[in-house]
Amino acid sequence: MNYETILVAHRGPSALITLNRPDKLNAMSTMLKAELIRALHDLDNREDVRVIVLTGAGDKAFTAGADIHEFQGRTSIEQWHMYEHGTLYDAVDRTTKPILAMINGYCFGGGLELAMACDIRIASERATLGQTEINIGIIPGGGASQRLPRLVGLGNALKLTLTGDRIDAAEALRVGLVDEVVPHARLEGRTFEVADRIASRSALAVRLAKAALRSSARLPLDQGLRYEQSLFTLAMASEDKEEGVRAFLEKREPRWKDR
Ligand code: COA
Repeated sequence: MNYETILVAHRGPSALITLNRPDKLNAMSTMLKAELIRALHDLDNREDVRVIVLTGAGDKAFTAGADIHEFQGRTSIEQWHMYEHGTLYDAVDRTTKPILAMINGYCFGGGLELAMACDIRIASERATLGQTEINIGIIPGGGASQRLPRLVGLGNALKLTLTGDRIDAAEALRVGLVDEVVPHARLEGRTFEVADRIASRSALAVRLAKAALRSSARLPLDQGLRYEQSLFTLAMASEDKEEGVRAFLEKREPRWKDR
């Protein structure tokens, strides 16, 4: 696949997608978002990819958010059509493989919404994060009003969204906005350590576990528990369950078939 605004590289069992507009702090243009949607769809369907990692090019930014230049002159009807066609955030949400956000620097507005749509967030200690839309007179439109309070609680979410203030990586870790903070030089190494760890598990079990956990954001408890039971029942019927149990009893490493 050919892309102009992103790079896709393969690292063992993982694919690394790099938002690649470093001179614009990887601001997400319409083209970049469309390419990202295409890449996610492609990688989610490839058997040789077990985990997807997202990051930004250059040493300054993960992404400084939506491309603000494109906001100028955009009409409400155009905005509505963009939603009707499905957003990047919907595409991340639909992806069945684990997606890790490797937050290497600025992570603002729609960029933070992108990171929040991912499954795991690992940040450099240099990262700065913010839900900054209010600074330009608008509100978040890529899911922050729902995902941010789920991650950090309503009070912290309101504080971030209404002030538009930026926080450093340590504060982001404290409030639960990111899952791990590492020295900048360790960011890539640590992220791929986690990716490799996930990739070493049965891809089927990983997919089912992800589906079960992510349903907790949209289902009431009783339905979520029932959904977990359905997926657990499915896992119990898999060849990997037979292999995993046998390997445990025979005191050896399992050889997954991912089915
Ligand atoms: N959309 C489009 N272009 C952006 C951008 C965005 N969200 N964020 C940065 N850029 C561009 C700048 O326009 C500039 O381009 P230019 O050199 O052609 O003028 C380039 O990226 C570098 O940005 P600059 O502001 O000069 O870098 P900085 O290090 O001084 O400041 C930020 C960095 C991130 C603090 C600042 O760029 C900023 O506040 N950006 C907007 C962040 C934001 O609110 N995003 C949410 C949008 S809803």
